[in-house]
Amino acid sequence: MPTSTPVHADQHDVARRLLHSSETLSYDPVEEVDWETPLDTDHHGASPEWSTLYGTAYWDEMTPAQQRELTRQEAASVASTGIWFEMILQQMVLRDFYAKDPTDPNFQWALTEIADECRHSIMFARGAAKLGAPAYRPSRVVVELGRLFKTVAFGESAYAAILVAEEVLDVMQRDWMRDERVAPFVRTINNIHVVEESRHMKFAREETKKRLAGSGRLRRQIDALVVAIASYFIVTSMVNPKVYEHAGLDAERARREAKANEHHKSLLRSSCAGLMEFLNSAGLLTKASMWFYRRANLV
Ligand SMILES: [Fe+2]
Ligand SMILES: [Fe+2]
Repeated sequence: MPTSTPVHADQHDVARRLLHSSETLSYDPVEEVDWETPLDTDHHGASPEWSTLYGTAYWDEMTPAQQRELTRQEAASVASTGIWFEMILQQMVLRDFYAKDPTDPNFQWALTEIADECRHSIMFARGAAKLGAPAYRPSRVVVELGRLFKTVAFGESAYAAILVAEEVLDVMQRDWMRDERVAPFVRTINNIHVVEESRHMKFAREETKKRLAGSGRLRRQIDALVVAIASYFIVTSMVNPKVYEHAGLDAERARREAKANEHHKSLLRSSCAGLMEFLNSAGLLTKASMWFYRRANLV
């Protein structure tokens, strides 16, 4: 078991490295993303393999134009859910560092991360608008649960939940940013997000480990459950069921086939293997939490 001093010193090193990396490579989406060129509907919004309907009978019946419209709506929904979560995250980090030592690199990194997220949310908002999407927000219940979570969550549960949201978004965006079928401006958005989020994920992993160090069994059990429930609502809110209507599909059939889509579930599971490994190593995969991860198709 490490003593508190090396962990603390190491934490400063991590924050310093992250600050340095952010000075070297950060983006201003206002300048970097091509907002001017009108949307070319020959492009997808996401890699088709990531569509919630890919692999279903319905997908095969759709015209290529319908498939592209669907992935554009799905990408806009993921971006909008990203905004929802980034607002939760900004508030949790801001609360966490309230009145802490401003000379501490961790403090400065935390504010840097909040600034990143603020730019990301504006970028996602503009991106979703350019994709021709309406406002996609999580269900009323989830919005209220998020309101509670952002107001009270702290410590390792806050940072582990942040990590889950960032990792799930990351695995999708890594595919989309490299995919030539995806609209160029969406690829740029994804690229910016992947680069800047890799630092956030490093910080979230470190904070989770640091705050869990020396915690007892009961606390871990509670943490594990809180993080799993938060993850469940984050992941299941990624694609809003309204995307099907907006893509001009038979919404009821689309929802039914998406719900039973084994391809999508296995894609999620395989993409989240690394995340689950981390949660396991942190002692956050308990029996109770696994129930939620299974229901969210993360394991
Ligand atoms: Fe972000
Ligand atoms: Fe982030």
